[in-house]
Amino acid sequence: MKTRLKPATAAAATALTLAFAAGPLHAQVGATGRLLASNCFQCHGTNGKGPGFDDIAGKSVGEIAKKLKEFRAGKEGNGIMAKHANGYTDEQLVLLDKWLSTQR
Ligand code: HEC
Repeated sequence: MKTRLKPATAAAATALTLAFAAGPLHAQVGATGRLLASNCFQCHGTNGKGPGFDDIAGKSVGEIAKKLKEFRAGKEGNGIMAKHANGYTDEQLVLLDKWLSTQR
């Protein structure tokens, strides 16, 4: 699969790769994932734990990213989430997913 990256995203991906090599990857995923996920809390509650629409925190790794890809493909939902999911690259969906999965 070919993914087009905007320069800013490519830079973020590079930073992430460097973080892999440097060590505290968890912290890097955490900071970026949390920033990305802050956009979700208006509807899904602080830290994704409601009140609001479906609870999106504390799912197993991969679940949220899978759902968001289904929304993006138009296979799921009423359109609200398709619009949101479309705004993120695959890499960003993974960061979102990883961070949200750590929220209990
Ligand atoms: C404008 C409000 C709004 C925002 C912002 C929003 N969502 Fe949603 N989300 C919804 C609604 C409404 C539903 C349920 C309706 C549907 O399935 O289309 C939903 C459903 C979901 C589901 C499915 C949950 C399940 O158990 O089936 C996931 C996963 C999800 N959202 C993740 C996210 C993530 C991640 C973000 C941030 C990038 C986000 N949402 C931002 C409104 C929102």
